[in-house]
Amino acid sequence: MAKVKTVHRCGACGATSPQWAGRCQTCGEWNSLAEERVETSPRSIGGAGPPPAVALPITTVDGARAEPVATAIAELDRVLGGGLVPGSVTLLGGEPGAGKSTLLLSAAAASARQGRRALYVSAEEGEHQVRGRAQRLGALEPELWLLAETVLPNVVAALDTVRPDLVVIDSIQTVVDPELGSAPGSVVQVRDCAHRFVQEARRRQMAVLLVGHVTKDGTLAGPRVLEHVVDTVLSFEGDRHHALRLLRAVKHRFGPTHELGVFEMTGGGLVGVTDPSGMLLADRRCGVPGSVVVPAIEGQRPLLVEIQALVTSSPLGRRSAQGVDPGRLSMLLAVLSERAGIPFGTSDVYVSAVGGVRLDEPGTDLATCLALASAHTGMAVAPTLVACGEVGLGGELRQVGQTPRRLAEAARLGFTHAIVPASAPNGVTGIDVRRVGSLAEAIALAGLEPIDSRGQEVPP
Ligand code: TYD
Ligand code: MG
Repeated sequence: MAKVKTVHRCGACGATSPQWAGRCQTCGEWNSLAEERVETSPRSIGGAGPPPAVALPITTVDGARAEPVATAIAELDRVLGGGLVPGSVTLLGGEPGAGKSTLLLSAAAASARQGRRALYVSAEEGEHQVRGRAQRLGALEPELWLLAETVLPNVVAALDTVRPDLVVIDSIQTVVDPELGSAPGSVVQVRDCAHRFVQEARRRQMAVLLVGHVTKDGTLAGPRVLEHVVDTVLSFEGDRHHALRLLRAVKHRFGPTHELGVFEMTGGGLVGVTDPSGMLLADRRCGVPGSVVVPAIEGQRPLLVEIQALVTSSPLGRRSAQGVDPGRLSMLLAVLSERAGIPFGTSDVYVSAVGGVRLDEPGTDLATCLALASAHTGMAVAPTLVACGEVGLGGELRQVGQTPRRLAEAARLGFTHAIVPASAPNGVTGIDVRRVGSLAEAIALAGLEPIDSRGQEVPP
């Protein structure tokens, strides 16, 4: 019989230490160590273990194996660089309610529709629940098989009988291997079950999709080590109060990681959005102070996003940022105060990227500053104006990547004027491009120059 000993394992990185400590020595996470009983005799997860691999000259290796197979869900295929590679394992992470189950059930049905058998393993919901959802999604396909099961060996046994080309495990945190002895969702369970699915995917040349829950702060619940085990990590994000959902590849062994998939959550499931900018701007009210549109780039995709700011007089000086980095907002407020003469010390400041989009590229700096200046002065910018550029601590503007693509998208949606940094490249038609060197110049050009109480312009 195997010996059992007690170790303390970090819930964030999976590292173990013999003693408990307040902080993980490997990743530095606080309060992440939990006691765990492990068998000390070596144990192979896959029973007898895979046969030894054979070394080959690289030219004789079969290249066709890495060819992706389209899922027929266009936005998913775009992010995957064509589709799912047989024998690969993809992890889809997202907060509860993001739509992970909906997306992968649709992907499984699309595979089945094309004659590639799919097995959807529901380890969270019963068959009836999944069937009900499939019916609403129009996903009742004879080649889509369903298994409501949480026990790993039973799932593997079903692979033998069903012989699917594609398997969805929903979710990896709720599958358990009883042999491991630790609780469902624990680091050991999640990691070892994922390892087993990787082995099965390779051996059977089937594509495996794992659903992984992430916590509110955006980290994958359970071990980060899971990200190293799989071939591809996708993240599905979006505010549950908004319909927009963004799909990105965080890690991808078979292709680029810069593509962005855009979906809308509707009553009939997830629908791919071909014109996300148009959708994001649909409800915009023009002529309101504090609103400026930025042509942002998400992945390779230009995305026009309205940035809104609201400034109210208050001694508390509260700051609230939605979809914009709070640290970046503090920096921009300091630059506006010191380099453009617009102080916010006695105001509450609210900034929001509309539509539940999270913007984390510096190209949004200028539009954020103009929205803040507009809210501060109570004057609206021209409704047909866009602005993009990074703002430096000296109040200077710096160019950001792909300016022509950003401006072409703005022109497509009917914007006629753009404010960009002086160094931004030429070669954009259909939009009047104004180049400026500093934030103060941009504010003046947008018609937002601060006026002091005597009605005189404050020099920047
Ligand atoms: P779900 O796929 O269950 O999310 P996850 O698996 O990531 O937790 O669905 C998320 C939400 O989407 C759920 O609250 C209900 C909503 N929804 C729709 O609006 N339309 C639909 O057709 C479906 C299936 C779900
Ligand atoms: Mg789900």
